[in-house]
Amino acid sequence: IYNWLRQATPVRYDESRNCWDVFLYEDVHRILKDPATFSSVRMLSVMETLLTTDPPRHTQLRALVNKAFTPKVVNDLAPHILSITEELLDAVRKSGRMDAVHDLAVPLPVIVIAELLGVPPKDRYLFKEWSDILVKGPDVNTDEAFLNVMAEKTQAMKELNQYFAAIAAERRQAPKEDLITLLLEAEIDGVKLNEEEVLGFCILLLAAGNETTTNLITNALRRLTEDTGLQQQLREQPELVSSFIEEVLRYYPPIQAIGRVVTQDVEVHGTAIKAGEQVVSWVASANRDEAKFQEPDQFIIDRKPNAHLSFGFGTHFCLGAPLARLEGQIVIKHLLEHLDSIEFISGLELDYIQSPFVYGVKQFPVSFKELK
Ligand code: HEM
Repeated sequence: IYNWLRQATPVRYDESRNCWDVFLYEDVHRILKDPATFSSVRMLSVMETLLTTDPPRHTQLRALVNKAFTPKVVNDLAPHILSITEELLDAVRKSGRMDAVHDLAVPLPVIVIAELLGVPPKDRYLFKEWSDILVKGPDVNTDEAFLNVMAEKTQAMKELNQYFAAIAAERRQAPKEDLITLLLEAEIDGVKLNEEEVLGFCILLLAAGNETTTNLITNALRRLTEDTGLQQQLREQPELVSSFIEEVLRYYPPIQAIGRVVTQDVEVHGTAIKAGEQVVSWVASANRDEAKFQEPDQFIIDRKPNAHLSFGFGTHFCLGAPLARLEGQIVIKHLLEHLDSIEFISGLELDYIQSPFVYGVKQFPVSFKELK
C-alpha cells in the first residue's frame, strides 16, 4: 500500500482525518528536520512534554534527561538487561513454548525503564501489571468492553501517578542515583521542575518506551520465524545482530507515522499546505522508498547504510533509541544462544494491534527446542 501511495499520491489530503499525509523519504526527512515550520506543539495535549514542545523550551527539557540516556550510560545497563531476559526466559523455557509478547516483549522494557527511574526490583511486577493494562485493547468489539478497558486504564494511570508521587517524596528526603532524583534536582534557569512535571516525565518515559520496544522485540522474533534461515545465520555470525535489529526497525517500524502542525504556509513536494494544518509523516513508507534504499522490500540483514527514520530525525530523535536497540540486541542474542527452531505456532492468524500508527501484534505464540 505504501509503495502505491508514494507513486500515486506522495502528498495527499485526507478529508476524513483533516490532515495531510506525506509518504516520500525526502519529504518526511525535511519535515522532521524543520521544527520551526513543522511544530510538535499540540493544542489538545494534556501536559507539556518533550514530545509536545518546540525549541527553545524543548531544548531545555531535553538537556535535563539527555545525560541519563547516553550510549555509555545505557551500555552499562547491559548486564542488568541480560539478567532480566534470563529470568523471563527461565520461566518458560522448559515448556517449549511461550507467547513472546506476554512472556518476554512486554515485561522486559517495563522492568528496565521502571528500574532506571528508580523503582525497586521488588515492585517490578506491579509495573508489569500496570503496563499490561495500559497496552490492553477490548477483548470484544462492543462499546461496553471499550468503556471497561478505558476505566481500567484510567485507574492504572491513577495508581501509577500515586506510586511515582510516593517515590518522589522518598527521594526528596533521601536522594539516590536514579532518574527520579535527577529530575527532582534538575533546574531550568534556576527553577526546579514542579511535581507535576517530574511525574509527567516518568509517565512519558513509560509511555514512549514500552509498547514501542515491545513491538521491536516481537517484530524481530517475527522476522526470525518468517525466515528461519536467519536464526542459523545469526547464531553463526552474532556480530550481525545489531544490523539485523536496524533492518527490523526499517522493515517493520513499531511507529508508522509522526504528526506535526504547520506554523506558516509552506509547499511540500509542490503542494501548498496552510499554517495551522496537520501533517502526518509516514516513516514506514519513507523506510521503503526506492529513491533512498536499494531493494527496499528485501530484508537485508547487513544493509549499509541504513538511514531508516523509525526513531524519527532531528530535534525529537528518540531519546530511548540506544536503550531500545540494546534491549533488542540482547534479547535476540540470548534467545538464539539458548533456543533452537523457534517457530510461530501454525494454524494461528497474526493478531495485529488495532492502530494505524503502531505496528505490532497482540500475541505471538512460538514453539522452540532448548539448545544443549
Ligand atoms: C521520541 C520511536 C523507544 C523515549 C521518539 C520518536 C519516535 C520514537 C519515532 C520521535 C517522535 C517525534 O518526532 O515526534 C521509538 C521506537 C522505540 C522507542 C520505535 C523502540 C523501538 C523508546 C524508549 C524510550 C523512548 C525505550 C525511553 C526510555 C522517547 C522520548 C521521546 C521519543 C522521551 C521524545 C523525544 C523528544 O521529543 O525530544 N521515539 N521510541 N523511546 N522517544 Fe522513542
